[in-house]
Amino acid sequence: MSLVALLLQGSVTHEYDVLFWSIVALCAVVATAIAWFLIYSAWHYRRRDPDELPPQIRMNIPIEVTWIALPSILFIAMFVYGSKLYFDVERPPDNAEDVYVVAKQWMWKLQHLGGQREINTLHVPVGRAIRLNMISADVIHSFYVPAFRIKQDVLPGRYTTIWFRAVLPGTYHLFCAEYCGTEHSQMIGWVYAMQPRDYQLWLEQGAAEGSLASTGEKLFHQFGCSNCHHFDGHGPGPSLLGLYRHAVQTEEGKVVIADESYIRSKILNPSAKVPQGFKTIMPTFKGQLSEDEITALIAYIKAIGPRPGTDLPSGPGEQLGDYGGVTPDLSEPPTPPIGTPNPGGVH
Ligand code: CUA
Repeated sequence: MSLVALLLQGSVTHEYDVLFWSIVALCAVVATAIAWFLIYSAWHYRRRDPDELPPQIRMNIPIEVTWIALPSILFIAMFVYGSKLYFDVERPPDNAEDVYVVAKQWMWKLQHLGGQREINTLHVPVGRAIRLNMISADVIHSFYVPAFRIKQDVLPGRYTTIWFRAVLPGTYHLFCAEYCGTEHSQMIGWVYAMQPRDYQLWLEQGAAEGSLASTGEKLFHQFGCSNCHHFDGHGPGPSLLGLYRHAVQTEEGKVVIADESYIRSKILNPSAKVPQGFKTIMPTFKGQLSEDEITALIAYIKAIGPRPGTDLPSGPGEQLGDYGGVTPDLSEPPTPPIGTPNPGGVH
């Protein structure tokens, strides 16, 4: 693989390498210059006779200004470039494609929105931003693809995300980068970056069970969620239509954004951050749902939410339209915004 190709494997790879190597080069230049100056001064200003008294210099403003200003400018430049890169890595583009990752001793389970599941392999199209929503079923792991310069801890009980965009088709090593038990070193896999049409073919081969959201829809009925969470907003629980990424006013007077972590925490710990106007009557589903099933439920709630990339819906009618392949029951008009008191519900 040529150097150019190596530099272009992933979206931030190139910038990352520029930052890394410019810091290495800068440090090398500074360290070398200091070492040479030290040797030169030791020789040039050596004591030539035992009574020699050199002229005493108290202050040299130009020199002092230079050695304060120059390093400051260089360090600030490093900081600015580093932070820009950090924000790029932390903020996935709005049109990023979601892939759900569950880490467990000792394997990577990956699920695509279309329902395709993989173990220790991840197929992605080149040129497309991929956002990984990751959680661990047991201990801390770390998702690490050196070629894309991405590494992110995968924690139990909390979602973490990372994103990347493969630029060149190819096969790239995937590692677990956090010691997680005896078979940590076996927790490895491959990322296959494919041309979009090959990726499309691959997707079509693996979607026999239906999309992730439709699996979630089945669970939504199977676990009785639909008994309380009616789409018309007249059930005992709040309607979940358009909930995803929507601001929720809680009983404690706080506003939280209904992201993956919030939805997950509400499934497992319903008594915290209750939407305003609702009572805690929901039982916990802790221990009843696997991380995979929670992922599917979230994918479903996401699918009946606003389209990715759009702002929060401005009115209750706005979020109708795209349900990501699932069909909510819309026999009643859509719900008022989440968190508004529920006239027909249990109080
Ligand atoms: Cu998982 Cu190390």
